[in-house]
Amino acid sequence: MHYTIRGVRIEDFPALRDIELAVFGAVECCNYFIKMIPHLFPASCLIAEENGQIAGYSLGAVDGHDPLRAWILTVAVKPQFQNRGFGKELTCRLMQAMEARGTRSFVLTVEPGNPARALYQRLGFHDIKFEPDCYGPGGDRYYMERKV
Ligand SMILES: CC(C)(COP(=O)(O)OP(=O)(O)OC[C@H]1O[C@@H](n2cnc3c(N)ncnc32)[C@H](O)[C@@H]1OP(=O)(O)O)[C@@H](O)C(=O)NCCC(=O)NCCS
Repeated sequence: MHYTIRGVRIEDFPALRDIELAVFGAVECCNYFIKMIPHLFPASCLIAEENGQIAGYSLGAVDGHDPLRAWILTVAVKPQFQNRGFGKELTCRLMQAMEARGTRSFVLTVEPGNPARALYQRLGFHDIKFEPDCYGPGGDRYYMERKV
């Protein structure tokens, strides 16, 4: 696979928006938040690029209550780039970068039927909690954790 994984740049707002639209059919988190990502998370947002085309991104953030803990907030790969290793690489590289800055455990939330659960399990995550209506009615989620 010939690709680049690089840190996010301020000018990536349209690319991040495109990924959200392509993957979720809408901007799951609002435009304002997407716009702020390169400003707030320059060290924990990675972009996958192939031949000048943006394939996907991953986003992490350190927990505000526990500096040793980080959340994987998003891993999203455009449909035409899926099943080629981008999601795994974006997740692994994000965790490596955050581990190098002191993170000792990662947490994320994921929908019960999402195939991404298998990816996270293979990367060492396990279920720690199930929260019905986590994101409002019908928005059930598993919390998964991986300790370094
Ligand atoms: C989840 C997602 C990021 C995975 O990205 P991807 O580039 O397709 O994944 P990869 O090609 O790196 O595959 C990684 C592993 O997951 C497996 N996998 C990927 N998609 C799968 C699917 N639909 N069903 C079963 N396994 C799948 C692959 O077989 C691979 O396994 P391996 O490590 O044993 O080789 C991508 O499908 C996506 O953007 N989904 C929509 C957004 C989303 O739900 N994100 C997660 C939110 S918590």
